[in-house]
Amino acid sequence: MAVDLRRMRIILRNVAWLRSLYHFARALTAAAFDTPARSRSKLDRLHSVSTDVWQYSTVGQSGKDRFLRESRMLDRVRNGQLFPRALEIGCHEGAFTEYLASRCGSLIAVDFSPVVLERARHRRNWENVEFQNFDLRTEAVPGTFDLIVATSVLETYYRPGDVRAAKERLIAGLRTGGYLLLGNVRGNDVFESSRWAKWLIRGGVRTSNCFSADRRLSLITQEMDDLYVDTLFHRRDAPEGSTR
Ligand SMILES: C[S@@+](CC[C@H](N)C(=O)[O-])C[C@H]1O[C@@H](n2cnc3c(N)ncnc32)[C@H](O)[C@@H]1O
Repeated sequence: MAVDLRRMRIILRNVAWLRSLYHFARALTAAAFDTPARSRSKLDRLHSVSTDVWQYSTVGQSGKDRFLRESRMLDRVRNGQLFPRALEIGCHEGAFTEYLASRCGSLIAVDFSPVVLERARHRRNWENVEFQNFDLRTEAVPGTFDLIVATSVLETYYRPGDVRAAKERLIAGLRTGGYLLLGNVRGNDVFESSRWAKWLIRGGVRTSNCFSADRRLSLITQEMDDLYVDTLFHRRDAPEGSTR
């Protein structure tokens, strides 16, 4: 059995169309079972069993290195000024919230998991940050903002319709001239090369491309490494009727 699995893995690695088919089947299955309630309870369960599940307190792609890169992207456009009103979606335990707080006049940090929100609230004494329970899949963004940050949130969405609906909500919550920082794990090479992954909007690059194609947004800058892609957009004032 072990040998068969090993052989299977070798075949999948080397036969491009089979590899694509395998990932397509997995992506379809994930999409079929992905509902807002399931996603909430899955993440809440994960957060309950351990703190800092994604190791944000360490250096690396998911931790400090990425936060520093994202902070630099924001610093380049704010020119020493604060973003007057900002929103962080999926703040988790407040690790990146700390970087954002010093760059914003006021910051609303939201997550749909009560467990992580409680940890974020008690992380330190916050002065300009308010934490709220909020689900991007089911609720409109609570206000209009000069900056919205949604990093490593849409990568947990498996249905293209949900990604598009989130895009609509995020754009509706941006004032004209406001910035949107979007970051996501890139996923494997199949996600970036196959047509079905474009259609299913899987992988960080495909997700960024979906946002770039929207004429209400202009792409300011994009930075990526082997694992992660960050894109900074600007909301422009598109004429009526020419939004997509
Ligand atoms: C992988 S963590 C990302 C944390 C942080 N934003 C970052 O960049 O590292 C994803 C967080 O988003 C939250 N989340 C996922 N889907 C969400 C949704 N639809 N609405 C609000 N929060 C969501 C999860 O509970 C989790 O805390």
